[in-house]
Amino acid sequence: SLIPVILAGGKGERFWPLSRRQRPKQFLCLDGSGRSLLQATADRLLDLAGGWDRLWVITSAVIADGVREQLPELPEENLLVEPEGRDTAPAVAWATLEVAKRHGKDAIAGFFPADHWIGNRQGFQDTLNAAAQLAATEDAIVTLGISPGYASTGYGYIEQGEPKGNYGNLPVYKVSRFTEKPDRATAEEFIQTGQFSWNSGMFIFRANTVLSELATHAPAMLNALQDKGKAAYATLEKKSIDYALMEKTQLAYVLPADFGWDDLGDWNSLERLLKGESKNVELARHVGKDTEGSILYASDENEVIVTIGMEDVVIVRDGNATLVVHKSRTQDIKKVLKELQGDA
Ligand code: GDD
Ligand code: MG
Repeated sequence: SLIPVILAGGKGERFWPLSRRQRPKQFLCLDGSGRSLLQATADRLLDLAGGWDRLWVITSAVIADGVREQLPELPEENLLVEPEGRDTAPAVAWATLEVAKRHGKDAIAGFFPADHWIGNRQGFQDTLNAAAQLAATEDAIVTLGISPGYASTGYGYIEQGEPKGNYGNLPVYKVSRFTEKPDRATAEEFIQTGQFSWNSGMFIFRANTVLSELATHAPAMLNALQDKGKAAYATLEKKSIDYALMEKTQLAYVLPADFGWDDLGDWNSLERLLKGESKNVELARHVGKDTEGSILYASDENEVIVTIGMEDVVIVRDGNATLVVHKSRTQDIKKVLKELQGDA
């Protein structure tokens, strides 16, 4: 069966000030379920893994203790701690090497971001079982394609190629092109053809398949990790697996994923998740006069947020920080944090 690896080393900066250095987005509970994004990800994968001893997490040193607190049942030897984040290419490479050492080169590994919302758990598991079946029989790097909602520039795009047949009743296609985070015009072109899906960010493959593809497309990184393990990190460049491997490999396949998926990337995503019929998303005691389309959050339930005549704003109160940003500008939080430096 599948060995799931959770990618949990990102910073999730666009959720500042709720996300801070020691408390990144994956530790937050954003949907009122009582489980953080990371915990919910582990919950969903536990069945597929067949127990905690087969579930892995890769994260960075600054938040490793937080991961231990959040997932007390995770065995210490299944927690890979990167000295510093170098984006997902080194994370996938190192974790695949470690999984291959423990479970063998034919082990089927699945990589899962810790910042996703999944609607239908059964559908999710069925899709992953089909992906694992394909990866077991072919040299395949299996992606899950999401039907694209709009011309987003924040996702990878997968162009559907030749059909490969059915796996577990789901149609599989060869990927003819993978383009990470295109510019707006390209994204619009892609959407118009009807041949593209969004990359969900989950990848399923036989360990050996990806190790030999990395040997071709990212040999320096793979060799460094093979020779020095985590000590190689100081010398590695920051690169995501999407650029380092997915845009280059000829072995990518795509399975359509229609189990209800969302990337909880920024404050706006809460609107898709929680708004329903209400005028605003209120995660705070909010007294609003003529306010709509807004997202309001306070960490302290004793606080009240009062708004008058506001439209499409995000207001977040947490500890010593307040964020007020127009909904159309939440992507820019990252840039502003650079100026705040130590204070954030
Ligand atoms: N261990 C580790 N180390 N994990 C990391 C690191 C790192 O250095 N950097 C990021 N991660 C984790 C994040 O915590 C997240 O769970 C996952 O890897 C993906 O990283 P993001 O930074 O959220 O990627 P993205 O959203 O910009 O893009 C990816 O996901 C999209 C779908 O959500 C790409 O795969 C896109 O193609 C895809 O469409
Ligand atoms: Mg993401």
